Amino acid sequence: MTYSKSDFGEDFKWGVAISSYQVEGAHDIDGKGPSIWDKFSHKGKRIEDGSDGKIACDFYNRYPEDIDLIKELNIDNFRFSLSWPRILPDGTGRINQAGIDYYNRVIDNCLEKGITPWLTLYHWDLPLILEQKGGWTKRMIVNAFIEYADVCSRHFGDRVKNWIVMNEPHTFTGLGYLLGFYAPGRYGLKNYIPAVHHATLCQAEGARVLRRNIPDANIGTSISCAHVSPASNAPRHIEAAKKVDVLFNRLHIEPLLGMDYPIRDLPVLERIEQYIQPYDPELIKFDFDFIGLQNYYSLVAYNNRLVPYLNAFVMPFRKLNRPLTSNGWEVYPEGMYKILKQFGQYPIKKIIVTENGAAYHDKVVKGRVNDTARMNYIQTYLEQVLRAKNDGINIGGYMIWSLMDNFEWRAGFKSRFGIVHTDFNTQKRIIKDSGLWVKEFLK
Ligand code: BGC
Repeated sequence: MTYSKSDFGEDFKWGVAISSYQVEGAHDIDGKGPSIWDKFSHKGKRIEDGSDGKIACDFYNRYPEDIDLIKELNIDNFRFSLSWPRILPDGTGRINQAGIDYYNRVIDNCLEKGITPWLTLYHWDLPLILEQKGGWTKRMIVNAFIEYADVCSRHFGDRVKNWIVMNEPHTFTGLGYLLGFYAPGRYGLKNYIPAVHHATLCQAEGARVLRRNIPDANIGTSISCAHVSPASNAPRHIEAAKKVDVLFNRLHIEPLLGMDYPIRDLPVLERIEQYIQPYDPELIKFDFDFIGLQNYYSLVAYNNRLVPYLNAFVMPFRKLNRPLTSNGWEVYPEGMYKILKQFGQYPIKKIIVTENGAAYHDKVVKGRVNDTARMNYIQTYLEQVLRAKNDGINIGGYMIWSLMDNFEWRAGFKSRFGIVHTDFNTQKRIIKDSGLWVKEFLK
């Protein structure tokens, strides 16, 4: 390794991330209402290893020790999300004081230990009751989200100054409303297209509420991105790559920046127009303090006429001759550099990498987890972050996904992303070798 922490500069934010449903457990404790993920993972039927998130990492009870671990790892910033149904069990209206108290305890615990909390408002655990009213497909979600953002910022904004409105709208609309692969398990363009518009609108509306209630807040939103290249220089593959790029990268960032939806490059998106109300093109914009960029892999696209509307598809990672993680994603650090360069072309004030990390089959041997592959992944991706930063892209931080192994959505507990190992039977944590490296690096 040829770089050190100081190469990133004094102001660079080093962090680690988790999300509420993936770690908290306590799914029906202290007045929490059900979320779409409680329903989707019920009895584990749709989860690859038959598990669910009822207990997960039991972070709800173990947060003091987990925050101690963050401290021990020399990590200064902790990104976690709020569970909407823990705060507003009915989606709107009645506030669950026990939920507010819980997050107050977590926030205060961080602050006492000198760790800066970064709150994500929405990391996919929508109150079930709102889904029953149509969820992200219906316009009512915008007012519900505004109310939720208002409650959160009024209760926590005195102490929390770093906010992320949403986590990866691309993933939860695409997998949850187009392909039915994630909660709430809906599919088809008729669900997906309105969900995209309402999620985009909520990013800006939520951010405006935060700005109003916490004038000194640092406000961002996190977008999943993957650099797309064509399978060859043949015009049909170049065209395919352009369309995949719209879907994966441009769709959720450009409207926020006032560039409208990229309909010209992916005409099926025209269907979004029927959901756009007269003032929406203005309401959809927000001048974010930073954009959270989340990257794990890149994509190679090719022309494929069998895929309706898109006429394009992406090559399976296993065909690319690149190393793979345990969940079959490619390891291609240069993809991080390329996507940072691409996003660096937008008029964005600052980029913070709010997620990056890898899953591997870790084993505990004599109380130790030797995860050299993950360590290597983090080191090589980080090197590419620095490369982009040195090229002049304003990158303000890097956060590892994830603090600890947790409930990896549809994959259940099979995909371990942590730099801390979780034993899901005993809840014992062990800092993996990758975590020990982070600790040393950040010392
Ligand atoms: C999500 C995380 C998830 C991770 C690995 C991101 O898309 O924000 O919740 O665990 O990727 O799949």
